[in-house]
Amino acid sequence: MGGRVWEEKEPLKKWGGADNIMKVVETVAELSQLRGKMPEPVGFVPTMGYLHEGHLVLVRQARAENASVAVSIFVNPTQFGPKEDFKQYPRDPQRDLALLEGERTDVVFMPPVEEIYPPGFNSWVEVGRLAERLEGASRPGHFRGVATVVARLFDLVKPDRAYFGQKDAQQLIVIRKMAADLALSLEVIAVPTVREADGLAMSSRNTYLNPEERKQAVVLYQALTLAQKLYAEGEKDAGVIRQQMTALIRKQPLADIDYISIAHAETLEELDVVRPPALVSMAVRIGWTRLIDNIVVVGQGKR
Ligand code: PAJ
Repeated sequence: MGGRVWEEKEPLKKWGGADNIMKVVETVAELSQLRGKMPEPVGFVPTMGYLHEGHLVLVRQARAENASVAVSIFVNPTQFGPKEDFKQYPRDPQRDLALLEGERTDVVFMPPVEEIYPPGFNSWVEVGRLAERLEGASRPGHFRGVATVVARLFDLVKPDRAYFGQKDAQQLIVIRKMAADLALSLEVIAVPTVREADGLAMSSRNTYLNPEERKQAVVLYQALTLAQKLYAEGEKDAGVIRQQMTALIRKQPLADIDYISIAHAETLEELDVVRPPALVSMAVRIGWTRLIDNIVVVGQGKR
């Protein structure tokens, strides 16, 4: 998908006349003022910062497909549970801004919490069943926080296209559902997962891993690769595939499985018999760090 067509029809316009300098704003008022001057289409990449290559590919794709690019950096308190890592979540705004400038971002929105959640804020976006499974079951309220902040950001940035990583597969599904249900006039675009050389999916949380944990963390990707291999070889029983994945992960002493799921890639209903499009996803703790990863199973598999 993606909207390259537009780019071919019309050359990309630069906004701001002679001044192509990236604008960094912290308030809703400043953002609204800038939004009026941004040539359309506007591509938007919401993030929580501490940027890595996984975020930057989203920005690059937004840059290639739109006349203007907006990125938000906001560690959203409402998507963290009371015992989760909101306070420790890594932050490095200066480095983030340098990286975004390198990608020719036009506008960076870095609001303080009160700009997004003024005192007394008490309205929420709930996406229902899709948001209650998997991550939603392990992290109650997580997707309510995600959907609410993304709805709020969409309303402020008014993007034509918004970019999300396949890394957070359920988040992508929840946001697509929200956009469809609320008839938001924007396109939600999925971008493939960016991985380290050994297969570990890039994540801001990888920074929590010590060297031994980092080594063992590769088991998530190994388990996903195993699932794809078993399926390609003809295994269709989701239970058997899950068992084999579990056995592989248990070989790593620091790994503790939260869930392993083989579900329909759109409805997220658990499957007994694997058939595409199936989403194989998991959450595994490596030491104290909770990591998630997924793949979409492809091909028909041997009969
Ligand atoms: P964050 O974890 O910062 O991720 C921002 C975006 O980058 C998400 O769409 C995520 O899926 C994508 N991303 C992260 N790692 C990736 C990787 N290795 N490959 C491809 N894409 C990757 O997701 C959030 O922030 C928040 O929940 C947010 C949507 C900003 C709402 O607060």
